[in-house]
Amino acid sequence: MISKKLAHITPFIVMEILERAQAMEANGEHIIHMEIGEPDFPTPGPVQEAALETIRADRTKYTHSLGLPQLRERISKHYTDEYGVHVDPERVIVTTGSSGGMLLVFSALIDQGDRVLITDPCYPCYPNFIKLAGGVPEYVPMGEDEGWQIDSKRFSDAAAKGAKAAVINSPANPTGVVLTAPVMADLAKTATDNDVLILSDEIYHGMVYEGHGHTMLEFTDEVVVINGFSKFYAMTGWRLGWIIVPPGLVRPIQTLQQNLFISPPTISQEAALAALSDSRVELERMTKLYDERRRWLVPRLRDLGFGIPIAPTGAFYVLANAKHLSTDSYSLALEILRDAKVAVTPGIDFGSAAEGYLRFSYANSLAELREGCNRLEAWLKQRPPTNKA
Ligand SMILES: Cc1ncc(COP(=O)(O)O)c(C=O)c1O
Repeated sequence: MISKKLAHITPFIVMEILERAQAMEANGEHIIHMEIGEPDFPTPGPVQEAALETIRADRTKYTHSLGLPQLRERISKHYTDEYGVHVDPERVIVTTGSSGGMLLVFSALIDQGDRVLITDPCYPCYPNFIKLAGGVPEYVPMGEDEGWQIDSKRFSDAAAKGAKAAVINSPANPTGVVLTAPVMADLAKTATDNDVLILSDEIYHGMVYEGHGHTMLEFTDEVVVINGFSKFYAMTGWRLGWIIVPPGLVRPIQTLQQNLFISPPTISQEAALAALSDSRVELERMTKLYDERRRWLVPRLRDLGFGIPIAPTGAFYVLANAKHLSTDSYSLALEILRDAKVAVTPGIDFGSAAEGYLRFSYANSLAELREGCNRLEAWLKQRPPTNKA
């Protein structure tokens, strides 16, 4: 009954952990959430107001399939303001979350058997999007000892073997690593030399706590940028994202968007204008608080014995080495959930290079993070030696 295509699609483990934690909560247990990559902050007030105003004025019909023209223009201006790059609004396509954007991009680009480079570890949904489109994910491993940066030699060797596209993600999930400008320039050059299209997932842009984040558009125009309102703007449930594509891809993706989605969500699009124009105070406040949590959490996890050689500087994740506890991160995460009542994500969700690691999300209040770490400390002290690897 189920299509053959689905046979190779794997579950999103973090969602499985979350659902198990929620089942425990339904039974009256109190769980500390450090697994989910979802801002704990409310959507900024001006965004909420704009949405209510849109509903009251009944501007709730379909929009243009590429998105509201004023939003596409505002997103283009965002690139001039934040990165000093000019992006023609005609190249901006508003999508149903960045996930909707990825579905459009992978469907438009990938033919049966096309190789697509992704890093190991990476966001777990990439290989599934690629496989669903008929492509073959090819992993470029990264390592903790290299600070989870993309190794340019390994990348160029993989690109030289031929690939249709390469997905990069900075700030990265699950490592929190921000790619440096020289590394990005190098990746752009390798991609151009080998005729590989870079798909740059920039969903965590804005969440950079040291130094400066760069968009791939600063280094090349032959790139697809994927971004959205879920993370920095604390708007996960509004399901709104955008992609910036080379001119030749606009029309094919528009055709797909018309068929798959008709248009992106109207109310969310109107509200997103307020996210970009009127929410600076809230955005700065959230960023400051994430950074405070990061500065507190990283040393605390190190004190608990987790390995974090280089502190992450972006997104809201810490990928911590837990091999001294177990080399089976899924079992370890389930054990921690059951016994310490703390939900964390097993590294294996992100690829084999992250097996033996746990991803801690600091998209939770400092008070909850403190309680979570205290619980971990107590659990580590009484954990029977037989459970240890
Ligand atoms: C790296 C990365 N890209 C894309 C997404 C999808 O975000 P959305 O579809 O909410 O825009 C996520 C969500 O966790 C993510 O971590």
